[in-house]
Amino acid sequence: LKDFSVENEPILSYRKDSPERKALQEALKATASNCEEIPIVIGGKEFKTSDVRHQVMPHDHAHKLAQFYYADKKLLQQAIKTAVETQPKWDRVPLAERLNIWEKAADLMATKYRQELNSATMLGQSKTVIQAEIDAAAELIDFIRLNAYFLKEVSKYRPISEDIKVTKNSMRYRGIDGFIAAVSPFNFTAIGGNLSYTPALMGNAVLWKPSDTAMLSNWRIFNIMREAGVPDGVVNFVPADGPVFGDTITASPHLAGINFTGSVPTFNRLWKQVGNNIDNYINFPRLIGECGGKNFHFVHKSADVQSVVTSTIRSAFEYCGQKCSACSRMYVPESLWPEIKAGLQCEAEKLKIGDVQDISSFTSAVIDDKAFKRITSYIEHAKKSPNLEIIAGGTYSDSKGYFVNPTIVVSKDPKDRIMVEEIFGPVLTIYVYKEADLAETMKLVHTSTKFALTGAIFGQDENWVQTALEEFKWAAGNFYINDKSTGSVVGQQPFGGGRMSGTNDKAGGPHYILRWTSPQSIKETF
Ligand code: ALA
Repeated sequence: LKDFSVENEPILSYRKDSPERKALQEALKATASNCEEIPIVIGGKEFKTSDVRHQVMPHDHAHKLAQFYYADKKLLQQAIKTAVETQPKWDRVPLAERLNIWEKAADLMATKYRQELNSATMLGQSKTVIQAEIDAAAELIDFIRLNAYFLKEVSKYRPISEDIKVTKNSMRYRGIDGFIAAVSPFNFTAIGGNLSYTPALMGNAVLWKPSDTAMLSNWRIFNIMREAGVPDGVVNFVPADGPVFGDTITASPHLAGINFTGSVPTFNRLWKQVGNNIDNYINFPRLIGECGGKNFHFVHKSADVQSVVTSTIRSAFEYCGQKCSACSRMYVPESLWPEIKAGLQCEAEKLKIGDVQDISSFTSAVIDDKAFKRITSYIEHAKKSPNLEIIAGGTYSDSKGYFVNPTIVVSKDPKDRIMVEEIFGPVLTIYVYKEADLAETMKLVHTSTKFALTGAIFGQDENWVQTALEEFKWAAGNFYINDKSTGSVVGQQPFGGGRMSGTNDKAGGPHYILRWTSPQSIKETF
């Protein structure tokens, strides 16, 4: 097999007068001037239904970006049939051929279609150019290339043979017979590509239900993969109502797995439905989920204040705190609080919130009306509660777009619901602890929520860092020492959390692809 590059895709600068800036501006203009029509695609055939939906720009919600259709139960059943029929044929396609398709797709994403992906992500999901570039360009391309690389590495494994003269042992990495359902979120275009196309790479056939609010960018990924040569029926593009999709896939005996990123209640619902139908399945369906978090920054008295302030502002407020990894709660020792408070207030005030097309915007709108209502309900709670004080932001407006200003809340109660519930928006909550309560506060970090996705500690005292590594062993799937809790890089920091944050199968790591294969051990005797 040909060797793949294992380098991460470089991030482009978008400096004034750079070719990428010019190309991006053209792509933004083209994307904004058209309400693209997106069909359902099953086995290469396009369908439309009477259930018409629209994707709007979150920062200008009167502007429709795309029109799409919900697949009904009948179409979903047709997609299942198509996937089940396609899977064994696709699984027979030699590995080298499958890898070539993925390599071609990654090259198309890195060159010809980079700005189509970025512009759809910027306008549809309200990401600034840098946030789009690290997602819809770099991370997406990295997933496609590195999963292919990991597959090649895995397939090098040779079981030992007891007597090589008479026995040969081998392992063949089959897909799983049946179909995989991929349910992807709005907040990373790259996750859409990873959830749907990694199982496909491994020889599976997929029903992909993209998020309504990431429809256009996900549709563009689908088309790039088609152009690269992924055959019809391997991935079926089926926007649908969540519960209708969940009920239909879990009712099929051919459900081989669910690859999910989204909320805990939705994943729980799917898990229960699978449990209720367990007697009907051909395989035990693989349930892989990344669900949510209440990610923390914990500051020790030995920390470097400037680094704490910069890292926290970036982690909590980049992409409006809508990264699964975003810092949402912070613990600060009394001795550093005056300096950290001043730093956070000063930085938060400087952040420019505006149109994603304005390159100087730090962030833009939150994703939709539902998110706006949820996030602002926490701000209202902070305004009313005597235990909570808003020290920055606290204002919002949804007249043109769903804008919420970066908000910082100090809580006297480390267990107030604002400190322990997932907000998924630009609201940072802080608890100031007494140094005498250090050990107790550290314990509280991982006992006060059910989540364990990302966490970061800040401190220069190496003994304390060792203590924190022990105390926070189960508090986060991705753990950072003196760095922000966001920004994991594919292949460098494989991503995922435990407890109610998910099944921790580590997207962007070598173990993830193994979840999408059903290996066969073969013993040959001569
Ligand atoms: N790679 C994303 C981050 O860590 C999920 O922020």
